[in-house]
Amino acid sequence: MENVLNSDQTLCFYCLSYSKLFSDYPWNQAVLDKDTATPRCYLHGRYVCSSCRLPRHFNGIAWCNRCSAFTCVKCMPHKVQFKRFLVYRHYYEIQCTKCGSINPALEYAEAIGTHPFQTGKIKPSFPINVWLPFLTPEPTPSSADKVLNEELNGKQRIESYLQKPHIITKAIDETGKALKVDNKIQTPQNIDSTPIAKWSKIALHYHERSKEGGDFHHRELIAPHVLGLLETIPKHSRIVDVGCGEGYLSRIMFEKGRNVVGIDPSDMIDFAISYAEVKGYDIDYIKLDAAGALEKFGSNSFDVAIANMVLMDIDDDNIDLTIGSISQMLTEKGIFIFSILHPAFTPPALKPFRLPWDSDKNSDKIYLVGDYINNQNIEISLVSGFPTNHFHRPLSYYASLLKEHGFVIEEMIEPKPTPEQVLTYPREMFMDYDRMPIFLVVKALKLRQA
Ligand SMILES: C[S@@+](CC[C@H](N)C(=O)[O-])C[C@H]1O[C@@H](n2cnc3c(N)ncnc32)[C@H](O)[C@@H]1O
Ligand SMILES: [Zn+2]
Ligand SMILES: [Zn+2]
Ligand SMILES: [Zn+2]
Repeated sequence: MENVLNSDQTLCFYCLSYSKLFSDYPWNQAVLDKDTATPRCYLHGRYVCSSCRLPRHFNGIAWCNRCSAFTCVKCMPHKVQFKRFLVYRHYYEIQCTKCGSINPALEYAEAIGTHPFQTGKIKPSFPINVWLPFLTPEPTPSSADKVLNEELNGKQRIESYLQKPHIITKAIDETGKALKVDNKIQTPQNIDSTPIAKWSKIALHYHERSKEGGDFHHRELIAPHVLGLLETIPKHSRIVDVGCGEGYLSRIMFEKGRNVVGIDPSDMIDFAISYAEVKGYDIDYIKLDAAGALEKFGSNSFDVAIANMVLMDIDDDNIDLTIGSISQMLTEKGIFIFSILHPAFTPPALKPFRLPWDSDKNSDKIYLVGDYINNQNIEISLVSGFPTNHFHRPLSYYASLLKEHGFVIEEMIEPKPTPEQVLTYPREMFMDYDRMPIFLVVKALKLRQA
């Protein structure tokens, strides 16, 4: 097929990148995302997963020739393979939902000639040019690097990306038809409620995903460090878990033989109480904030205070009172351990984008710096349609608060995944959390009563 283009046609972003490497690469015109910075052809578009029936970028979905089915990275376990091909250095291998065989994501399948459009297993209901890679010599690594850098990191692409809306349009199913897929946008339903009431609304959901040892981030990146900092602290110490939520960390501490009181002002605590009963755990859970706990327990009543992923959920009017109350509840030389979203590497300070927006690879992520230095109140949706508030503050704000209330920082951890975690969770950890920490864990010592 000849590479001839009229002036009113747009080339596919991927076809264009590949054709810079391989002179025989046949271009396709873009039919998807034409008004974005990464217009794409059907071959380099989205495919409907045969299991979840959701559209997926072609780098996050694999074809099983035996079952004639697509499986996406969301539905099945997947591994990362490190290999140079086309303009890439890695791809995913995904297990087929039907027969369990392991298949590469479509970007690699195309590079080795096993894409179902290349083998003829799917006959697309639209014209498409396919490439026959086994007839083409390998490019040199340096030319591959050049294309990769230009195409993925080009300033122009970032600028144009930021101006464009991103709308899901079409995806291809196993029969080769392009289906229209709607992107349902949920409208926020609890705009008027208080920050604490918003936590109450998602309490059940939070409990369901946290009850067995915390959700993914808590389990893999936060809790190991928070619990690690506790290890050198004497066993009999009295611990208060401030903003304990549905209580998962208190339960883990209890299992380790710790003496814990959990407090939380939202309905999250109801789940902590009922689940402790189910488990037969003797943990005191009380519906209070830190100021209420100080009133109830008095000064010098705890040796250790924990606030696990809580401080950035407390508004500016109450944060000072909270840290002050924690300080007062602690004995002299008491320990305060807390974790927060790292303010430098999470929104609103950091704005992550993907190019294309639906790519499953973290190497397609680009970060832009927004407003880091100012306090801000933004909404985050752990549950679609039910946002909670996130009170962004720069690191120096926390440092000043601690100093003001008699603390000195003893340790600071920016959790980094281990090489094993990178291999086990490639899509979450590789080229992302292993280059910037999204959490911060701090251990502070109370030197004096402020
Ligand atoms: C992200 S959850 C963390 C829950 C728990 N610590 C965990 O690690 O799973 C944030 C919690 O902070 C609580 N919270 C919000 N405002 C608070 C305040 N002023 N004082 C204490 N806790 C608060 C919420 O009710 C919610 O349970
Ligand atoms: Zn293309
Ligand atoms: Zn799927
Ligand atoms: Zn299969």
